[in-house]
Amino acid sequence: MVNPKRKEDDPVGKQVPEQDAGPLTTATDVVRTADLWKLFKLGDEVVKALRGVTVSVRPGEFVCVMGPSGSGKSTLLHLLGGLERPTKGTIELLGQPYAGLTESQLSLLRHQTIGFIFQSFNLIPLLTAVENVELPLMFDDADPGQVKADCRELLTRVGLEHRLDHVPAKMSGGEQQRVAIARALIGGPDLLLADEPTANLDRSNGAAIIRLLTELNHERGMTTVVSTHDASVAEHASRVIEMRDGKVIADSGVVEPDGHGAGSAR
Ligand SMILES: Nc1ncnc2c1ncn2[C@@H]1O[C@H](COP(=O)(O)OP(=O)(O)OP(=O)(O)O)[C@@H](O)[C@H]1O
Ligand SMILES: [Mg+2]
Repeated sequence: MVNPKRKEDDPVGKQVPEQDAGPLTTATDVVRTADLWKLFKLGDEVVKALRGVTVSVRPGEFVCVMGPSGSGKSTLLHLLGGLERPTKGTIELLGQPYAGLTESQLSLLRHQTIGFIFQSFNLIPLLTAVENVELPLMFDDADPGQVKADCRELLTRVGLEHRLDHVPAKMSGGEQQRVAIARALIGGPDLLLADEPTANLDRSNGAAIIRLLTELNHERGMTTVVSTHDASVAEHASRVIEMRDGKVIADSGVVEPDGHGAGSAR
């Protein structure tokens, strides 16, 4: 995985100490944040991309993050996935705070527990579908024959059994996004993060990708967080979080003190 460390974007990145990681503990939430802020410095201007976001995602949830352009959806997903450090606030994945991890520890945790899907697929152009999917495991101590078999099985599951040896340029956008989904799943992640996975697809391909993500969520209990502009995605979600100007303005999954949810999106 590309090291997405972008220290120059983080005006107070030095606040995050680099020290030994504690043990990976189990927790009720897959990922949780408290008072998360992210500022970007653009010349003299400071952009407040996130302004105090507190969310918890529970195992098996299918969370849809909605909001207009610039509301902070991608920033939130990047922070949840440890691709960027927060300016302020905390993030824990399976009970492990990111703040105590060095970059390499965070990178390993990400590799072992998170699958990412991006708007622009981010496949390697020269590699076939199977090769793209096996890429995340290339440096792992895994049996290459088994990895290849798992890749073929996953690509078959996402409906690409007839495209195993095609390179991305020979595939449609919907097919490329299916390869990206298989690649995100190959390591058996605990958390799947998808940032506008349907934005570059036409309506029917987009709907098919969301159907696939929903099925995988049900089949594997795969905790999934999807950001989107598309209101129809929310119909498939077990929970909808709405963002505006870097803040959460509505969350259908908030558990009230009486133990009841604030309302369900289903
Ligand atoms: N690397 C960066 N440097 C400077 N500003 C940034 C950076 N990334 C995001 N921003 C700013 O932070 C704010 C939130 O951006 P973000 O990409 O999270 O929004 P978004 O909700 O994902 O929008 P979209 O729907 O267009 O993808 C925006 O004002 C954006 O310009
Ligand atoms: Mg975005």
